[in-house]
Amino acid sequence: MNQGRVSRRTLLAGAGAALAWSASPLRAMLQQAEAEAGPATRRSIAALIKEMTLEEKAGQLTLMPAAWSGGVATDLNPPGADNNFTKQIAAAVAGDLTGVFNGNGAAMALRMQRAVMERSRLKIPLLFAADVIHGYRTIFPVGVGEAASFEPALAERTARIAAFEASGAGIDWTFAPMVDIARDQRWGRTMEGAGEDVLIGRLFAAARVRGFQGKSLARDDTLMACVKHFAAYGAAEAGLDYNSVDMSLPRLVEIYLRPYRAGIDAGAGSVMTAFNELNGVPSTGNHWLQTEVLRDDWGFEGFVVSDYTSDEEMIAAGFAADRREAARIAFLAGVDMSMTSGVYREHLPGLVRDGLVSEDQLDRSVRRVLAAKAALGLFDDPFLRIDPAREKKRSRLPSSLALAREAAQKSIVLVRNEGDLLPLSPKTKLALIGPFVRDGRDINGPWVVYGDNGQSVDLAVGLKNAGADFSMTLGSDVEAPIPGGIEAAVAAARAADVVLLAIGESERMSGEAQSRSEIVLPAPQQALAEAVAQTGKPIVVILRNGRALALHGAVKNAPAILVTWFLGSESGNAIADVLFGKVSPSGRLPVSFPHESGQEPYYYAHKSTGRPNPPGPLQEYKAHYRETANNALFPFGHGLTYGKISYSDLALSAKRLSGGSIEVAATIRNSGSRAAVETVQLYTHQRVASMTQPVRQLRAFRKIALGAGKAKTVRFVLTGEDLAFVNGAGKWVREAGVIDVWIAPNAEAEGVHGTFDFAPA
Ligand code: NOJ
Repeated sequence: MNQGRVSRRTLLAGAGAALAWSASPLRAMLQQAEAEAGPATRRSIAALIKEMTLEEKAGQLTLMPAAWSGGVATDLNPPGADNNFTKQIAAAVAGDLTGVFNGNGAAMALRMQRAVMERSRLKIPLLFAADVIHGYRTIFPVGVGEAASFEPALAERTARIAAFEASGAGIDWTFAPMVDIARDQRWGRTMEGAGEDVLIGRLFAAARVRGFQGKSLARDDTLMACVKHFAAYGAAEAGLDYNSVDMSLPRLVEIYLRPYRAGIDAGAGSVMTAFNELNGVPSTGNHWLQTEVLRDDWGFEGFVVSDYTSDEEMIAAGFAADRREAARIAFLAGVDMSMTSGVYREHLPGLVRDGLVSEDQLDRSVRRVLAAKAALGLFDDPFLRIDPAREKKRSRLPSSLALAREAAQKSIVLVRNEGDLLPLSPKTKLALIGPFVRDGRDINGPWVVYGDNGQSVDLAVGLKNAGADFSMTLGSDVEAPIPGGIEAAVAAARAADVVLLAIGESERMSGEAQSRSEIVLPAPQQALAEAVAQTGKPIVVILRNGRALALHGAVKNAPAILVTWFLGSESGNAIADVLFGKVSPSGRLPVSFPHESGQEPYYYAHKSTGRPNPPGPLQEYKAHYRETANNALFPFGHGLTYGKISYSDLALSAKRLSGGSIEVAATIRNSGSRAAVETVQLYTHQRVASMTQPVRQLRAFRKIALGAGKAKTVRFVLTGEDLAFVNGAGKWVREAGVIDVWIAPNAEAEGVHGTFDFAPA
């Protein structure tokens, strides 16, 4: 398959001549691709671009949903203009497409790539993209679940396996990681990211990029990452997906933009725009975001793709009059590639001919896309990742499933365990009750294109594998009662020692477009919980959820509650491991659970206000709702273990931090009889500054193993940089003042507290 080859060396000379190679990981990858390149062949990218017609250039900037009939993703992404596979191949051969996404494995990719390499004029390899969000065939916990591990290295490992499987199936490019900060739990896409915190968001963004991209993009087991959705998609007003975002510059710079930046600094090859507008300008038409911030300030050198039809959607948003204007605005804003709408292919050639878009600019975007194809090794071997035999060989390997089990175990958060109800003795007679008793669905999560729920271990199988003694009763469906369901559940509860109540959200209740106005359990499940609680049997709630929920009544008051998100392939085994104490739970909430839906957006790093309600009873004319304190039911960072953990002896290495650093230490003790993994968290607060500061901010954390009866001293180092904040002009500053510091088990616990003076040099 040598036709159309362009050596990386010449190609990169064309693509990257203007680049001063420096320490950027993306640059390093491109350099490595160059170093590993095969024998030099005949043309450079620059020469190739010279040969291209305007139509072919616009084609290289046009991505379409795969039209392979029956493709797994057809339901998720209704095909656009090219909705017939034969027609789509013809379009690819004509040079109208740069590639397709969410197609159907190596067999489809082989047919398309072969057609293009054999029959197209310029023989530019196609790019195959897909939403590989938290696994390909082996499914890992949803993003927010995995973030509960507080272990970015775990996310790097799971992304690596996802890339290994997906690249084995002909995929070059994943639309992940999604790094949008989610502080309003009504927003359904909370499940996909890393939750509400900026530090966790940054660390997981970088880890996932590293995992997908591996050491070199040019290998047959890596995927190019796509940091999305740029920008601030998670801050949609009222948690309503696609809604407008209106945000101050300091908040944008200090919180929301930073995870994207972290992903880009880790070397992500691409960025996806967002559906939302930001301060009146749609993200996809936002020159400030897509060019001034992304390229001029951050030095991003990959390419930018629209989120689906977000370019065309600027018409409905009232920002573009028609498709031609939408294409012009998006392109001039800095969006290199258009997904699905077809507006670039349709209008960019005409816009260039009419002088509204310069051909140089068009060439620059084409160069970025071709450089990405080159970095992915496609010019040297367009079939690098396409091998139907390899696809099967890489799928669901025992080592991948073992990692899925480890990831699931580490994602489970034990938020309550009164009277040490957990872990259970294997002899306990259990009644497994609730809609998630049912197998074959709602295990993997809402945003899985290629995984199969039927292959994932459900709760019943997990309990069986653990040798548990249990009965099974549905009791209720997810959103509708079942005739006789409650009666059967009550009878089952009566006959058991302990009830395992498997309740929560179905896959359909979170994810894209699944905003909720009330983040509560559906009424039929609440009724089931109340009836079962009446039996007086101890209840272990096993919550399935794509977001934080406001828990009420018998669920809120259950003696034991496990937050289990959507855990993927090894879900049931991992839950059983925790239930029976094979592993001690170690997950921590990456999103705060509020008392009531009406508190949203609720996040721990909020401001004090001038009228905070002091600890204790609610006071008149203080900042709280009539119905509830404005704190969390289960705060960010909260999670219990099977140990008995206490914090003591805060020690500061100095009273003052000017230059250099200060060490903050505490002793963490496990006085229980079981080993535990504790996630120790460091928070700070600046008491007075020229911009009011959040009541707490996570600055560092560490997971430590603590044997029964053991204690450890945990030391953190803080520098002035950790205490910087963004002022009203959008600039990072450091101001002198008193800093509160806590080492604590969660964002609202006192843990151990001290203060020091900050006097930046
Ligand atoms: C729309 C979603 O917002 C985005 O995350 C996804 O990658 C694209 N659809 C393609 O499926």
